[in-house]
Amino acid sequence: DERDERVVRMLMFGKPGAGKGTLTARLAQKYDILTLSTGDLLRQHIAEQTEVGKEAEEIIARGELVPDEVVLRVVTSKLDALHNKHWILDGFPRTLRQGELLDAHLKKRNTPLTLVVNLEVPDEVILSRISDRWVHLPSGRVYNMSYNRPQAEGFDDQTGEPLTKRPDDNPRNSVLPQEIFARRLAAFYSSTSPLLSFYTKSAATSSATSRPNPHLHPHQLSFHRPSGLKVKTVSGSTSDEIWPQLDRLIQNRFPGLRERLETQA
Ligand code: AP5
Repeated sequence: DERDERVVRMLMFGKPGAGKGTLTARLAQKYDILTLSTGDLLRQHIAEQTEVGKEAEEIIARGELVPDEVVLRVVTSKLDALHNKHWILDGFPRTLRQGELLDAHLKKRNTPLTLVVNLEVPDEVILSRISDRWVHLPSGRVYNMSYNRPQAEGFDDQTGEPLTKRPDDNPRNSVLPQEIFARRLAAFYSSTSPLLSFYTKSAATSSATSRPNPHLHPHQLSFHRPSGLKVKTVSGSTSDEIWPQLDRLIQNRFPGLRERLETQA
């Protein structure tokens, strides 16, 4: 039904370091939306040295993608917690196979994706950003010394705990950060970017079938309901360019979405 299309079931799509995590967090701060980041999840597994964490640690540090089945092992149970809520996925899906499995999962629950946001940021901008990135591991909060500085240098704003560098931003053993970044970018182009045409195609199909079919009995309509998926590109080099576009896009696409009540000082 029409209201269903107004539920935020969104993918934040973009190159490594494009700002997916930062913008997802910003949306979740402003609106009543849940978020799930596979990067954060995997980093938590690594910190806790779980089986998944041990398997993922080296792969992430090398700048390669973690195998689909490992990612799916950590993500499936988390997806269930999002059911019937507004949500954004950050960093998942990242391969066609992950995309197909997500689709199947959502189809079973009759909760298809409603929006894919494609962040477009030039490569040279990204490299300088991630060399300046600091993270608070337990929460996934991301800082940057030129944009989004912590209140006290080196410490998380909310907990006061120390910030760290991600191993894929700051590799050991005399590997250059640019080398790792080049690998992450290569993985993006070979494995992740094909997903975008997958979603663009399914969005086109859904709008082509969105005209009501007069030959259908009303109870059949749900089977032919368009998915209502939109794919939108937001481009720019700075937050001043990107954030207002993204926020406007969200407001237009999901007019009923509530802002969070300002309960905390
Ligand atoms: P993940 O954590 O998802 O890394 P990523 O895709 O490389 O993306 P990043 O987190 O580096 O960047 P981001 O786009 O979130 O940008 P951010 O907001 O931090 O994954 C890490 C690894 O885990 C992968 O390489 C892979 O091995 C594995 N993995 C994860 N998911 C997987 C999956 N589904 N399948 C297989 N493997 C998976 O911003 C970057 C910097 O820029 C920050 O310092 C930020 O402060 C700054 N910044 C952000 N926005 C702006 C702005 N507008 N202006 C100025 N600075 C900005």
